[in-house]
Amino acid sequence: MQPYLIAPSILSADFARLGEEVAAVIQAGGDVVHFDVMDNHYVPNLTMGPMVCQALRNYGISAPIDVHLMVEPVDALVPQFAAAGASIITFHPEASRHIDRTLQLIRQQGCQAGLVFNPATPLSYLDYVLDKIDVVLLMSVNPGFGGQKFIPQTLNKIAAARKLIDDSGLSIKLEVDGGVTADNIADIATAGADMFVAGSAIFNAEDYKDAIETMRQQLAK
Ligand code: DX5
Ligand code: ZN
Repeated sequence: MQPYLIAPSILSADFARLGEEVAAVIQAGGDVVHFDVMDNHYVPNLTMGPMVCQALRNYGISAPIDVHLMVEPVDALVPQFAAAGASIITFHPEASRHIDRTLQLIRQQGCQAGLVFNPATPLSYLDYVLDKIDVVLLMSVNPGFGGQKFIPQTLNKIAAARKLIDDSGLSIKLEVDGGVTADNIADIATAGADMFVAGSAIFNAEDYKDAIETMRQQLAK
């Protein structure tokens, strides 16, 4: 098992002060910047593209940037995000006609690659591509909005994905996204996750450092 990573989702940050907000949340102990890309097509919301990722790099953000693509089609954005400084690029398998090709494209562009599973999307998408994957991202809410409630059935799916990863012997991160809070993060870790996205639970807190430290304390138990 790899060390636990906390990935603040900047979807819940103040977009008018995005550079400052991202710097603050990394300073407060966030490990990875989770960057939600929504296209008003694959999901009913619209957020940010490669220019914003590049702007964060230009602002001096050096932490890994975890780009979660909720877009359809996927491929054209991969080289653009790689050039804009993405470290990890994940996409939803239903949104790509050629999943294997898209995964290869992401690695060819020098990024880590991952698939994202909606609550009702089966893990069988992993069957023939596990060797081309660095991150499995399980959604614990339906994608499109921050601030939703964690769907408890996800815990069984996390355990199933953990088993699949362990049985493969590959080094693959297991990331969970949606409704993660200090109250449920320990259960999510026990089920087998090692990377935790948290948007509203961090950015709605008075003190980002307190919020992240409280999560780490729960993980240390
Ligand atoms: C939802 C996004 C999430 C979102 C999580 O589609 O993928 O990353 O920001 O927000 P919280 O942590 O508030 O559920
Ligand atoms: Zn996300």
